[in-house]
Amino acid sequence: MSDQPQVLGTRGAESEPAGPTTQPCVMLVLGASGDLTRRLLVPALYNLACDGLLGDRFALLGAALDPLTTETFRARLSEDIERFHTRHAFDRAAWDDLVRRVHYVPAGFDDRGAFQALKAEVARLDATYRCGGNVLFYFATAPRFFGLLCEQLHRAGFKDGPGWKRIIVEKPFGTDLASARQLNREVLAHWHEDEIYRVDHYLGKETVQNLLTFRFANGMFEPLWNKHFIDNIQFNVAEAVDVEGRGGYYDSAGVVRDMMQNHMFQMLAYLCMEVPGSFDSHAIRNEKAKLLQAVRVYTAGEVERYVVRGQYGPQLDDAGRVVRPGYRQEKDVAAQSKTETFAAARLHIDNWRWEGVPVYLRSGKALWKRSTEIIVEFKKAPPVLFRNTSVQSLGANRLIFHIQPYQGIEIQFQAKIPGPTLRLQPVNMRFGYGEAFKASRYTGYEVMVYSCSHGDATLFSRGDLVEAAWRIAQPILDCWTAAPARFPNYARGSWGPTTASDLIERDGRRWFEILTDDVLKRVGIFKEGEPLFLSQAILALRPQVAAAGEVLIRKGDLGREMYILVRGEAEVLDDGGRVLQTFRDGDFFGEIALLIHTPRTATVRAKTACDLMALDKASFDRILHDHPPFADSVLRVANERYGLDLRAGALLDSPAPH
Ligand code: BG6
Repeated sequence: MSDQPQVLGTRGAESEPAGPTTQPCVMLVLGASGDLTRRLLVPALYNLACDGLLGDRFALLGAALDPLTTETFRARLSEDIERFHTRHAFDRAAWDDLVRRVHYVPAGFDDRGAFQALKAEVARLDATYRCGGNVLFYFATAPRFFGLLCEQLHRAGFKDGPGWKRIIVEKPFGTDLASARQLNREVLAHWHEDEIYRVDHYLGKETVQNLLTFRFANGMFEPLWNKHFIDNIQFNVAEAVDVEGRGGYYDSAGVVRDMMQNHMFQMLAYLCMEVPGSFDSHAIRNEKAKLLQAVRVYTAGEVERYVVRGQYGPQLDDAGRVVRPGYRQEKDVAAQSKTETFAAARLHIDNWRWEGVPVYLRSGKALWKRSTEIIVEFKKAPPVLFRNTSVQSLGANRLIFHIQPYQGIEIQFQAKIPGPTLRLQPVNMRFGYGEAFKASRYTGYEVMVYSCSHGDATLFSRGDLVEAAWRIAQPILDCWTAAPARFPNYARGSWGPTTASDLIERDGRRWFEILTDDVLKRVGIFKEGEPLFLSQAILALRPQVAAAGEVLIRKGDLGREMYILVRGEAEVLDDGGRVLQTFRDGDFFGEIALLIHTPRTATVRAKTACDLMALDKASFDRILHDHPPFADSVLRVANERYGLDLRAGALLDSPAPH
């Protein structure tokens, strides 16, 4: 479950209903006193009400152990909604109308009598609100109760009588393949698969739902969507947050269970599945299941080769003091925990469409930024045409799905720089949700409740899909349980462990990192940068990580890149290995070889793990030429360092660099 409302609802003006309302039903929330109800479910119902999408024939019945009354439950929710609603302005009338329809009955999940009482109350509300016997059960509880609740509802005779009965359950669906199968058996012992709606809140995100629309409502890309045109695909879910006090849960989970097996595999299925026969939920879910079944289930050897893990250590200050704790120091986490807070994998999809196209997945907690994106990198155009020009290499075209927090779609391609000579620059075209739609922020749960009430299971996971996803994850979990882990291997707030770069660089590729203005502005030379400069720099800079001890620049080599040190320490060494100078956060180096075209004048080695941004020569020349303040800062430092007298004016007067 996510606790941050972040999805854009795009259903138009707040006063105009954008479709039929929810079907009449009583919604019985089991575990209603918890966080999910107050932070997400009730704000979602409130959003539906404000948008005119919640039918009048609707009532919510909360049930939990807490000895609340309908009045105290309503009072609590009324307080919470002021905090957790996601509207621009609070609509008191809409809330009053909704909260009047909220009720509460205390109930212990193992108490059969309580379920009889619940049944009587549901029947009363059904008659009052004319719901036609329809009941939507929402299990807002820990998964260990799912089987029991299914049984209690069955025993209490909830299935009798007219109307539909549907159950929404929250993740996790098991903690491994065996427990997922067991859970499916328990749930399906009394209920039919069509009555079970398994929530994966990523499918509630507009940007994730839009993957299907983008692929199938547009004719432009589908012909290219295969191994003939696509070089590789990257899924990146970076979180800046740590385990947020959930150490007890997280330490028995880890990122493969918490993010990959569910959220990331769901996105993978949407992006890579075959074209379904229709938008019918069975048709879509069949294709998703087929895709996940085509993902290679690794042997132990393949896990070792294609999957890496990480765990964050503390954040230290310059004097080496702990500023913020590492994972093993978190509350409720074992002191020698082997749980991974970061993982990166290369997957193989063994089908005709994707055979040979690497699919890279990467996710972690306590990283430098929060951002989720999917990058589809196309094969490069053949450079033959540019053979006798100054263009040295052609960049790849990329299609980037920005899932969150920025929401949009971007295409990166090469453009000719205006002017009489032929020079290329990577540029982008962007569609941003914020600019295209009049949108309210949604919690992501609106669409879940809404589609469940209409019996549309498209956005919910199915038993076989869940098991297919566990089948892929299982060997990874098994291997990691058996093997020792060298943890921690990345600092809190850093760009992640170097093993992740090694994984992809072995294939001759790199992670494509999305830089943003605010990330760039944390570094001195970009602080005052004007927007055009920053947007060019973002496209040109290549984030990169280095392990302590790694040589970044070797004396005598030909310089092709300069580096900006975002985090960590790097040392300049003389021929005898003595340290001449230490670079720290915000410093840059390697510029001289690019400015005066000499071989590297010294060796620079990472003293600690380093996060860097590399700028290649062509981009360096271009930015230097186009942005005098940047040229000034670089030249000032270079002149000081090397006792030179390079002039920005001379550089700027010279013809535009090739
Ligand atoms: C949850 C996980 O399912 O998803 C959390 O349990 C994670 O650990 C969250 O932080 C991420 O969701 P979102 O919507 O913030 O990307």
